[in-house]
This record gives sequence, C-alpha cells and structure tokens, in this order.
Amino acid sequence: MLVLGIETSCDETGIALYSSKYGLLEHTLYSQVALHAAFGGVVPELASRDHIRHCLPLIQQCLDNGNIKPEAIDGVAYTAGPGLAGALLVGACIGRTLAWGWNIPAVGVHHMEGHLLAARLTALPPAYPFVALLVSGGHTQLVDVRDFGDYTLLGETVDDAVGEAFDKTAKLLGLGYPGGAALSQLAEKGVAGAYVFPRPMMNRPGCDFSFSGLKTAVQQTIRSLATLDEQTAANIAHGFQEAVVETLAVKCQRALDDTGHHRLVVAGGVSANKRLRYYLKERFSTHGVDVFYPPHEFCTDNGAMIAYLGCEQLMKGKKEQELGVKVYPRWFMGV
Ligand code: KG4
Ligand code: ZN
Repeated sequence: MLVLGIETSCDETGIALYSSKYGLLEHTLYSQVALHAAFGGVVPELASRDHIRHCLPLIQQCLDNGNIKPEAIDGVAYTAGPGLAGALLVGACIGRTLAWGWNIPAVGVHHMEGHLLAARLTALPPAYPFVALLVSGGHTQLVDVRDFGDYTLLGETVDDAVGEAFDKTAKLLGLGYPGGAALSQLAEKGVAGAYVFPRPMMNRPGCDFSFSGLKTAVQQTIRSLATLDEQTAANIAHGFQEAVVETLAVKCQRALDDTGHHRLVVAGGVSANKRLRYYLKERFSTHGVDVFYPPHEFCTDNGAMIAYLGCEQLMKGKKEQELGVKVYPRWFMGV
C-alpha cells in the first residue's frame, strides 16, 4: 500500500510517500520559521496562508522526485489534530479533495500519534509494548503504548510544554524563535553547576510535569543580574537544560516502573535535544531499558510520520465514509 502523508498542524508543511512494502519513498518539508521569526511566535493566519502556498507544489515535488504517478497512490493521510484550526484545515481540505478526485480513501490522523510512531521509521524499530515520552512545543506526555492504537496516558504537563519552556527561556536569554535548538547549543558552552534550578514536581507522586515555575526561576535569576554576558547566558542555559533533562528522566523512570516495560521511546521536537538523548540512553541502558529515538530529521514535525501512521491505519481497515472535512484543534490521544 502506498500512502501520501500531509502535515500542516503548525508552522511546517511536511509531505511524504510511504510504502508498506518499500518503506519511506519520498519526503519533503517547508519550514515557516523565517516567516514567523519577526513576530516572536507562530501567527496562525500567516501559517494557514503559507500552507496553502506550499502544500500542492510540495506534493508535486514528491511525486516528481519519486517518479510516481497519482494512480499508484492507495490512500491519503493528513493531520486532523491537534494543532492550529486554520492550518489543519488546509491539509485536511487538500488531502480529502485529492483522495476524492483519485477515488481512494483518506484518513485524518493524530499529530502526536505520528510523533509517537516516528521512531519506527528506522531499520531497527522498537517492538511493542513501550513507554513513550512525547516532548514537543505543545505537548509533554508519558504514554503507555501496549500496541499500535492501544494507548493510555500516564501523565502530562499541567502548564507549559517542554518545548514551550525551552522557547520561552531562549527568549529570556535573547535567542531567536523557536529557541529550543539555539538554547541547547548555547548550553554546551556553559559551566556545569554554575546555576542550579529547581527540578519541578519531583517530590509529588505520579507522572505529571510542570515547567512554568522553572521558566520563572530563570526569569528571576536574569532579573537579578546587572548584565547578561554570553558566558553567564550559557551557564544559565546549561542549568535550565539539566533541570529539564533530569526531571524528564525521573518521570520516565516512574512510568517504566509502573508499567513494567523495558523500552522507552522519546519523540517530538525536543527529542532532537542532544543532551536529553545522551542522558536518557546513559541512565537507562545500565538498567536494562532500551531507549529509542526517531531519526534526527523526524523528531520535529514532518510528513513521513503522518504517511506512516496513515498507512498502518488504512492497512488495518480504518475507513472514513464522510465527505465532510473535520479537524480537531484539541484532541486527546487514546483517552
Ligand atoms: O514537534 P515539534 O516540531 O512541533 C510541535 O508539535 O510542537 O516541536 C517543536 C519544539 C519547539 O518548541 C522547539 O524549540 C523544540 O521542539 N526543539 C528543541 C530542539 N529542537 C527543537 N528543544 C530543545 N532542544 C532541541 N535541540
Ligand atoms: Zn509536532
């Protein structure tokens, strides 16, 4: 089965073609980061309009690059939520319209389920069951993944998502938007232990997270300084990143203990973080837990994870009979 995947939930237009037989055939991505940078965050209306500009040309590009005719496609998968309503509608309208015109099925899939399965786009995919740590700009969740489509939410953030905390802290340090990757680069130059920030909600039972207090602690530290030179900014970035990474690790440990699983899958934009990847591997591999990550390019938003998820769903017989276009800006996975 060959499936076209369309991702337009936020500020990246991602298109891919996934084959159940041959794996990922083509994928392409257009990032709107430069468009939104001047505003310090994503402007929803601009995002929708830019998806309209890029979606069809990128689909054509994928078909041309792979020398694939539309007649070869068996289904279309698009992100139906969660995300920005207008942005989602662009991908959903285009996806459903193409599928209708080509007389093939279309499925609206869950963006975070796409992230969760992105680690399976490797030569050695994780087997089920596993614990998934989903860390993106809008979500921070621990999920018990017993099988494909069989998920239970174990915990989530009660305020800011991890990526959001990275972005807000990066802004405080004078880095651009989105600042997660830039903050992580700056942290590499920081002196370990120069700043130690609180590890939020460590002493409370359960797998929920809270990151807004950590951001406030950084804010107060910066306010208390006369000037913020580059080395001090790097030291603060280092302290912030260590607090985040350690907090995530402790909650992952709890989720692994509670479920009894021996595999941990980390996905979503923040799973691109080098320190997080290294720390979790180091900490858990000595305890008999295998840690998996998506390939670097599929940590952040992309069309490949949507095409893959849609392909799995269509192969399992998922059908959407309605012709109407529905999107779900707020949508809880598996609960
Ligand atoms: O999954 P994603 O691309 O979009 C959402 O679904 O939200 O995640 C984007 C988030 C942003 O907050 C970005 O700053 C963060 O992932 N991010 C990182 C890194 N790369 C991206 N955060 C920390 N370290 C990184 N290397
Ligand atoms: Zn995402």
